[in-house]
Amino acid sequence: MSAPAAEAPALPAVPEGATIVTLKIARFNPEVSEEQHWDSFQVPALPTDRLLNLLLYVKGYLDGTLTFRRSCAHGICGSDAMRVNGVNRLACKLLMKDMLPADGKPVTITIEPIRGLPVEKDLVVDMEPFFDAFRAVKPFLITSGNEPTRERIQSQHDRARFDDTTKCILCACCTTSCPVYWSDGSYFGPAAIVNAHRFIFDSRDEGAAERLDILNEKDGVWRCRTTFNCTEACPRGIQVTKAIQEVKRALLFSR
Ligand code: SF4
Ligand code: SF4
Ligand code: FES
Repeated sequence: MSAPAAEAPALPAVPEGATIVTLKIARFNPEVSEEQHWDSFQVPALPTDRLLNLLLYVKGYLDGTLTFRRSCAHGICGSDAMRVNGVNRLACKLLMKDMLPADGKPVTITIEPIRGLPVEKDLVVDMEPFFDAFRAVKPFLITSGNEPTRERIQSQHDRARFDDTTKCILCACCTTSCPVYWSDGSYFGPAAIVNAHRFIFDSRDEGAAERLDILNEKDGVWRCRTTFNCTEACPRGIQVTKAIQEVKRALLFSR
């Protein structure tokens, strides 16, 4: 005798003050079809909800097969980057109060995977090419000589030099909003350059020349066309294009 089919969980009551939002979500399952298609879901949203809450509602009550990454739900792990109404966002940082029209009219929110990386299923992309570029710039402290017996001292002024680029959470919002990266994935992309910047300008590090050599290659910083998409996309407010310009200047004046 076959097991009875699992029943869909009962929908919770719509909370007072909620607006019904249509989520139009790009779906892809290579085990079913090579073609991407759209599915729409009606979801109640409060102004205090984040987009991630709505996606969890879909997964919990409407379609358990919907696939997306998330972990911390607080803008720290960087795992839920997605393209929302054509702009890269973290679903856990996008408040519904900023998406709902004041007049209460129906609203549709379009959600797609971030661009430029192979889609594995629905909103999940293969992040390996992104992390390959990150690893290639040697994003770790490089020093020579014996291990110090006490901490490596750094002045506040020297620490401030790379403070902005320490904030990166490797969400890929910048790299996957870059038109140069879309056109040719061999470009290192802004996130890798941000993480190179973090060490190039660290007074304790001795690997700057090595990293600058890597970024001077044909797939390095000179591919950047200074369109600022990356800066606008960064959920951590990092001045991404400025960091890229600083690396370019370091290349021009260090050799
Ligand atoms: S500023 Fe450079 S890295 Fe950033 S999106 Fe534009 S081309 Fe890409
Ligand atoms: S620089 Fe900003 S957008 Fe790019 S990976 Fe880091 S946190 Fe994400
Ligand atoms: S779930 Fe961690 S950053 Fe959004």
